[in-house]
Amino acid sequence: MIRLLIVDDIASTRDNLRKLLGFEEDIEVIGTAGDGKQGLEEAHRLLPDIVLTDVNMPIMDGIQLTERLAQELPASPVIIMSVQGERDYLRRAMQAGAREYLIKPFSHDELVAAIRRVHQLEEKKGTFARASAPDSSGAPRAAALGEVIVLFSGKGGVGKTLLATNLAVALSVETESRVALVDLDLQFGDIGVMLNLDHSRSITDVVDSETLEPEMLNEVMAQGPNGVRVLLAPISPELADLITSDHVRMVMGELRKTFDYVVVDTSSHLADFNLEVIESAQHILVVTALTIPAIKDAKLALKVLESLTVDPSSVLLVVDRSDSHSDFNKDSIEQNLRHSVGAQIPYDPRVVGDSINRGIPFVTSSPESEISRSIRELAGALVPTGGQPVGAGVAAGKADDKRKRRIFGR
Ligand SMILES: Nc1ncnc2c1ncn2[C@@H]1O[C@H](COP(=O)(O)OP(=O)(O)OP(=O)(O)O)[C@@H](O)[C@H]1O
Ligand SMILES: [Mg+2]
Repeated sequence: MIRLLIVDDIASTRDNLRKLLGFEEDIEVIGTAGDGKQGLEEAHRLLPDIVLTDVNMPIMDGIQLTERLAQELPASPVIIMSVQGERDYLRRAMQAGAREYLIKPFSHDELVAAIRRVHQLEEKKGTFARASAPDSSGAPRAAALGEVIVLFSGKGGVGKTLLATNLAVALSVETESRVALVDLDLQFGDIGVMLNLDHSRSITDVVDSETLEPEMLNEVMAQGPNGVRVLLAPISPELADLITSDHVRMVMGELRKTFDYVVVDTSSHLADFNLEVIESAQHILVVTALTIPAIKDAKLALKVLESLTVDPSSVLLVVDRSDSHSDFNKDSIEQNLRHSVGAQIPYDPRVVGDSINRGIPFVTSSPESEISRSIRELAGALVPTGGQPVGAGVAAGKADDKRKRRIFGR
């Protein structure tokens, strides 16, 4: 059944439309409204599958209504009705997000065809979104889906990008699994420079088209070190706005089908898409440093996570740039943040500086350094079954634990 809301200021038009559609078995008029404002209220109350609206109406016109609906109720697409000569309105209506428009007077067949077309398209989109949406039911995930590891911090500059990059490479090397690295610091992402990658293609190329083909994603991703595939951030900051939460959800859904691990670097601000990725991630690494502002912001970040639907056991606190000269230590941080420290990454400007200058992750350029060992340990903590790709569905056991110690214990 296609549930329809009709918005028109002329009562007789509303009645005619209702009668006209009364003969259709698959369409039901669930409500009517006499102006855009009322239409918006009714849409929020009834959550119709489609809103059919006139353009010229008092209080709030059809174009404003379309704009509001596109933002507030994207699952209720709009069909605009307008008379000949209102071409400019139509253009604006389409820009506002209307899916179809009908020029009055239109036939019964034209009306019904438009409603079914819009509905079909919406159904298709819905199926795709549901298929790639995270499982929020708490049920075990399909064995074939990879794990998402997201790095997040309240404060910028604490080492997220450095750790994300090295963690991805460590996972790839140590577990021989398929690893993707995604730069979701959409405005100022710098994984590309950190790994010295060709930046001719980025996430912007993926979202240009309406659907997301796996082959396209494959083409757009750069070849990173040690088999890690990298989805880079847009080449310049103003392009970041083109990427919506829907795009990110679609991309993440597709990546989880192909890769065993998807490591996501984020920016420190609480954008919608960041929060969504965080909510759907299997591991959330809250990165902090040993400074008062960084710890204060880690506290806030942990609070934000508490307010989201995040499983507390998926949150791992990572302290970067640990050194013995700091006023803080593991105990004082744990006391302050009321959260155990899951990993400590030492401060090593020489190894890190050298690695960044050469564009080679330190886990491969200086594998024996203390900082590389700490990253391998962190990777080991995230891998449940001794380095087997999660997609392989191998149960954890004693033998696996041993193997895990051997792989990561170097
Ligand atoms: N353990 C470490 N030892 C030495 N230098 C480090 C360490 N961790 C991070 N750095 C340095 O700190 C700087 C910031 O790191 P990075 O870019 O990874 O932070 P970020 O959290 O991603 O920042 P932003 O929020 O701006 O994206 C880099 O120059 C990096 O080299
Ligand atoms: Mg960064």
